[in-house]
Amino acid sequence: SAASKEGYAHYMLKEIHESPRAVDDTISGLISDIEDVKNAIKILEESKRIIVIAAGTSYHAGLYFSLLLQREGFNVIPVIASEYYNIKTNQEDSILAISQSGETYDVMIALKEFKANGSKIISLTNVIDSAIARQSDVKLYTRAGPEIGVAATKTFTSQIAALQFLYSLIKGDDYTYLNKAKDVIRRSLDFEGEAKLIGEELSAKSNAYYLGRGLSLPFAMEGALKIKEITYLHAEAYAAGESKHGPIALVEKDFPVVFINLGELVGELQNNVQEMKARKAKTYAISVNEKLNTDKEILLTVEDERLSPFAVTPIIQLIAYYSAVKRGNDPDKPRNLAKTVTVG
Ligand code: AGP
Repeated sequence: SAASKEGYAHYMLKEIHESPRAVDDTISGLISDIEDVKNAIKILEESKRIIVIAAGTSYHAGLYFSLLLQREGFNVIPVIASEYYNIKTNQEDSILAISQSGETYDVMIALKEFKANGSKIISLTNVIDSAIARQSDVKLYTRAGPEIGVAATKTFTSQIAALQFLYSLIKGDDYTYLNKAKDVIRRSLDFEGEAKLIGEELSAKSNAYYLGRGLSLPFAMEGALKIKEITYLHAEAYAAGESKHGPIALVEKDFPVVFINLGELVGELQNNVQEMKARKAKTYAISVNEKLNTDKEILLTVEDERLSPFAVTPIIQLIAYYSAVKRGNDPDKPRNLAKTVTVG
């Protein structure tokens, strides 16, 4: 009903605006469940390999976590849940299953297989005692509250917060910087008008690239998925350095290329922007702290670059939202999609 949308045109927009609170509740929830968090960390640290399984948006959160831990020397393998058969796990492995609904069939099947191999299971779901949580040795939760829009928004941001909390504890860092995540999100929401302009421009296109490097790549992938899901625009994400290995062949005048720039590897990204500009692409950037000098750029600032994901995420979601609305699509109920995919 209109009332439960609290004045917002769609649930998706309302849920994007609920992200600051969702992230904050997620962090405080994990602090109150600190014994479970410690058990999860012990399992992750003691295992020979960490296998991260998830689908869709949750996979992108898992990929981000995997990159963070890989950089610390952990043996982490992110696996798309429906591709679980490509890996054989054993008692020395731990599994981290990430799922908003906690019911996704592909994740459930992968998890059952890995559990049968004797691997330890940790889950991160947004629904208390979800089916996936019930299959796990340690149950962790995001506390984003119910999400009605089919496109995951606040739950993704909350997964990022939860995973970054885990990562900070594994590293032995002070995690209190995460208390500022909500303010970083709020400041990004002030750029809603700028995101809308980019979204409306993209809505008129039939293709787009989303490019990132390093930690930015999972967010480029998420930006492209959101656009595909609700705008029905063909958006493809890949590592920016891959352009010259094939994809740049498609780029011609006004082809839209959206760069995600979390504030690392900026020189390399600037080179990739130049490659695209040389082909007369229409370049966009969602940047943190340092500009890429694209045709259109939203420059966000954070004091602590560990918080960059919270700056960028609301913008990629708003761009998708406004591009879908401009096309006359209902972003809450995209065609062909269900909120929870309980079939294989
Ligand atoms: C997200 O916008 C999508 N609707 C979809 O990719 C989703 O993330 C995926 O189906 C996984 O769902 P889950 O997190 O509930 O397991």
